[in-house]
Amino acid sequence: MTATIDPALDILRPVSDGLRHLISRIDDAVTLGDSDAVTQRIKQELQAAIRARTVELPARFHEVRPAGYARRLLHRNDALGYTAVVMTWGPGQRTPLHDHAGIWCVEGVVEGRMDVTQFDLIEDQAGPEGGGYRFEEQGCVHAAVGSAGCLIPPFDYHVLANALDVPSITLHIYGGEMTTCHVFEPDGTGRYLRRDRALSYDD
Ligand SMILES: [Fe+2]
Repeated sequence: MTATIDPALDILRPVSDGLRHLISRIDDAVTLGDSDAVTQRIKQELQAAIRARTVELPARFHEVRPAGYARRLLHRNDALGYTAVVMTWGPGQRTPLHDHAGIWCVEGVVEGRMDVTQFDLIEDQAGPEGGGYRFEEQGCVHAAVGSAGCLIPPFDYHVLANALDVPSITLHIYGGEMTTCHVFEPDGTGRYLRRDRALSYDD
């Protein structure tokens, strides 16, 4: 079994045994196989670690990018097929409406507070009128530090937004490496147009 530990984690040794412990617990969780069981277990582990304040991130994960929220790789395990990504959100920063390209995800709030708005897809491009997608907003969750949520396709249409006027930080565990996703942009008629978005990591 091979695991790639981002060099940033080595900086943590020995102060963040808690983060290493969380990674080992996630290793165990992903072997459960079924995506419902995997994500529920990871959600529990993430919540427990954040609430115990053992998720100590190196300084670079705290840096806000003026151009948009930062997306930085924390850990990748190719053998087990998952990645851990930290996102850092400045005031007012948010995602567009998007999906996760068929990959399950568990997202936890490490610092600050996030607004998470879920959407149901109620009509796709092949609908009777064609020419776009329609969604129904399912409400907004105000996610405080220590809260976490699971996203399992096809129920993974959502918007994430920093709810504060100071930075917020989130930790995302993906069942793979998300290099692309779909974003949905309002076309002005109540429908959305879908386009592919390539995803990469910031420094
Ligand atoms: Fe997302």
